[in-house]
Amino acid sequence: MATVEQIRAFRKKIKELPQHLRTEKLEAWRNDFELFCIECLTIIDKDNEYVPFKFNRFQKHFWKILKDDIDSGTPSRIYLLKARQLGSSTFVQALAFWRIILWPNSNGLVAAHAEDPARNLFNKSRLFLHLLPQWVKPTRQRNNRKELYFATKDDAEDPGLQSMLSVGTIKNVHIGAGSTLHVLHLSEFARYESVQSNVRAGLRSLFSTVPERGRTFIILETTAWGMNYSHDLWFQDKGKVDGFEKVKDWTRLFVSWLADDAYTSKNTLAPGSYLGSSAQDDYGDELGLSEVIRKELKYWYPEKKYEENEEELEKEVSRRLNWRRGKIAVDFDYDVPNFQQEYPSTPHEAFITTGTTVFSLRHLAIQRERLAANPDRQLHKYHYNVSAGRFEESAYGNLRVYEEPQDGYHYVIGADVGRGLADGDKSVAQVLKLPHLEQVACLSDRVDTHTFAKALAALGHKYNTAQIGVEVNGPGLTTNMFLSEEINYPWLYWKKRYDKSRKEWTREVGWDTNVSSKEVIIAGLRSAITNDYLIINDEESLTELEHYILDPKTHKMGAVQGKHDDQVMSMAIALQIATEFGGLESTRAEQFRPKWSFEWWASQADKLQARKDKRRYA
Ligand SMILES: Nc1ncnc2c1ncn2[C@@H]1O[C@H](COP(=O)(O)OP(=O)(O)OP(=O)(O)O)[C@@H](O)[C@H]1O
Ligand SMILES: [Mg+2]
Repeated sequence: MATVEQIRAFRKKIKELPQHLRTEKLEAWRNDFELFCIECLTIIDKDNEYVPFKFNRFQKHFWKILKDDIDSGTPSRIYLLKARQLGSSTFVQALAFWRIILWPNSNGLVAAHAEDPARNLFNKSRLFLHLLPQWVKPTRQRNNRKELYFATKDDAEDPGLQSMLSVGTIKNVHIGAGSTLHVLHLSEFARYESVQSNVRAGLRSLFSTVPERGRTFIILETTAWGMNYSHDLWFQDKGKVDGFEKVKDWTRLFVSWLADDAYTSKNTLAPGSYLGSSAQDDYGDELGLSEVIRKELKYWYPEKKYEENEEELEKEVSRRLNWRRGKIAVDFDYDVPNFQQEYPSTPHEAFITTGTTVFSLRHLAIQRERLAANPDRQLHKYHYNVSAGRFEESAYGNLRVYEEPQDGYHYVIGADVGRGLADGDKSVAQVLKLPHLEQVACLSDRVDTHTFAKALAALGHKYNTAQIGVEVNGPGLTTNMFLSEEINYPWLYWKKRYDKSRKEWTREVGWDTNVSSKEVIIAGLRSAITNDYLIINDEESLTELEHYILDPKTHKMGAVQGKHDDQVMSMAIALQIATEFGGLESTRAEQFRPKWSFEWWASQADKLQARKDKRRYA
């Protein structure tokens, strides 16, 4: 705690620094941004007190990353995704200030999504200037709500610093136009899409104002705001997205709430407290989260040597969970997804806000870890050659094969058919190997329904004439008809149905998805994932599973906005066919339908139905 007077006293040494030491001091500050902040900059802390700007844990980490860039002459291009109130805006404002007042002819721009936040950000810089040691203050020509312009009067002999820091909102498309920027601070960038229709174009022109040189900074700094452009940018491969493509190396820096020393409680949870294990629990999946907390604590607090001190680690995990519970209950009124957005533990958690995920993120994360632990795993890509009627190996193929067909194994294929339009859903097929229930291949393509039927038949033949089940709804009807009547594929999935008008039983080819059958197959898939007996090898499929939610308003299951669910549906259909086929590895089959589970009841109902049918036909 300090008054302005105390700050001034603290600065006294620097203020009165003898002339001959000043150049050296400037040099030291240029090399060490952290030192500059402590010795020159003042902030207002969370208790509303003036304090010298001394880096917190996260800020120290951030500076280390920037310092590495500077030392190697690499332009700093950072996408910072973070929990609330970690001090990131203050840090980037200070960085801009440091950069423009210690190097002449430098320009900085800070952009926000709205007027108020823009002004608040800029006020931080104006306070920096106000309480700067006197001899460090450059001559100003303008100091107003929109810009700080450091230069001497027009008639002066020396032009002065000729550096400028300005502020604007992203709605103002002209910001930054015509100038060369050395620091570009884009604050709360995830919200830009809600105020500017074409964020891509806006960013592209802004980015082009920053030359690709060492000691230049573009920093996108934000808390997540749903599955919008900022989400895609985070998960896209490097260099693929507009604006990003210009610069090869963007650093994605995720900072969870665990990086802040203050986000913890004095007390651990009461001994024997029940920990939530699914998204439906009051505080969400705390069990899964504990694992993440352990990792994060070890990462952010190396000085605590948690590796060697399990007991202390577990206590701190419990204190963190306790803090989290308090926050969720009091500040978020038990809205866990909203808390996760503001105080995320992982990037995935940050973006998933609307609705609850259907599949356990913890178990999907385990699958991802398994894949990551085996980087040399097999992946072959194939392209369907329409005229030859077969799959051929190709780097750009849409069939991803994780295991080639093995003799003596049975395979099933579940398929979901899209309309084949350029921007519509894809047609997807998932291949599962029995009895292990392992995903061995995934075909995902935008083709017409006939071509898809042919590709499916080729895929089925490739995998030991697998049993194929294609969704009949919508465009799937044509694919099914084509497969059964034209291609005569030997083993299609079918069900018996009683045709009331003709008063006879008919065979209906394909899988019919309706509200209740969808619930059944999704429940089956959920149970397979939670009990770890379905092995998923395809990362794209994992991503879709992670983004498959139950919308809290409509109570419908489906992909979050901007994502698809055809890989989920085709996987669920494949699993259903596998279950009906039976013969799953015995231990798995037992796990698959633990007695009294929903699946067990469903299988009992199936058996009963089979007995009734038998009697009817006898
Ligand atoms: N190193 C620090 N020491 C003390 N207080 C700090 C420090 N860094 C930032 N603060 C204070 O913490 C508060 C939050 O800082 P800031 O607005 O920079 O964080 P943020 O991560 O951008 O927050 P938000 O999520 O609200 O955008 C401010 O009052 C700021 O002055
Ligand atoms: Mg901020």
